[in-house]
Amino acid sequence: MSEGLITTDVGRAVACVRAGGLVAIPTETVYGLAAHAGNPAAVARIFEVKARPADHPLIVHLAGRDELDTWSDHPSDAARLLVDAAWPGPLTIIVPRSGRVIDAVTGGRDTVGLRAPAHPMTRQLIGRAGPLAAPSANLYGAVSPTTAGHVAHDLADRLDPATDVILDGGACPVGVESTIVDCVSDPPQILRAGGVTTEEVHRLLDSRLAPASGPSRASGMRTSHYAPRCAVRLVDDLDDAVALRAGTPGSEILDLGDDLVAAARELYALLRGADDRGVGTLIVVLPPPHGLGHAIRDRLEKAAAPRP
Ligand code: TXA
Ligand code: MG
Repeated sequence: MSEGLITTDVGRAVACVRAGGLVAIPTETVYGLAAHAGNPAAVARIFEVKARPADHPLIVHLAGRDELDTWSDHPSDAARLLVDAAWPGPLTIIVPRSGRVIDAVTGGRDTVGLRAPAHPMTRQLIGRAGPLAAPSANLYGAVSPTTAGHVAHDLADRLDPATDVILDGGACPVGVESTIVDCVSDPPQILRAGGVTTEEVHRLLDSRLAPASGPSRASGMRTSHYAPRCAVRLVDDLDDAVALRAGTPGSEILDLGDDLVAAARELYALLRGADDRGVGTLIVVLPPPHGLGHAIRDRLEKAAAPRP
């Protein structure tokens, strides 16, 4: 079933986007499920395929910072500074939307999330087919995909090989989603830790940041998200993991190790692997809270949260 869907042919993906189809795109963070950002019917299908509530806005993926002023209305100095430093790359800014942004993308909000992804195939696709609206290419609430195979596993029977395609750009090198910085609030807030480290955002903004507050502003901030099917229990060190495993039938330990870059890259494949092996409870040793450890801990805490 997925054979007809997966391709490495960017030209075929360009044709799909132009014809109003969906393309699963490789990015440096995770795979996205993309449509042309100006096509309301195609954007609506993204929500259907993902089973995602319509009020959870999508990120618009741009070619680069030259497009910032086309898609946002008077972005703040902080937004410009972040974009200059981190695009193309794993950073999403929330800014006031311009007239170019359609309601289907933002769920009617007056702000929009913008990012310029770094993956060469997707940069080519955007260059030829235009800006793409895309969430991560997983079913709503589940683990994000970091390979074309993961996308096919989750979505192949919801996509149509006649109109849609999964563009295979290999395994995602960062492995966790982009960092989201709300640049509408002053000072800005980090809404989601991600591929650009929290320390780096603080450095770039000279620590002019407010703690994230208010009602869940990014859907990934709702309590349960990024969850595999197996139960997830978090511990601080390997001794605690071993003790917990002894009392937990059907459990396995996942110790991500000290290399946080590798841990982020492998995280979602390891969570998926546990499900493939039928693990009942995955006991995960939390990485330290610095660098990419912030993003990894955030995803694991949401994976371990009570499920709806
Ligand atoms: O790395 C990434 O960001 C990946 C790749 C594909 O680019 N995309 C991604 O998209 O993670 P998604 O939809 O799974 O997560 C984006 C988050 C959601 O929680 C959404 O609610 C939030 O960004 N978001 C988007 N636009 C927003 C806005 N205008 N205000 C507040 N939150 C927004
Ligand atoms: Mg997502």
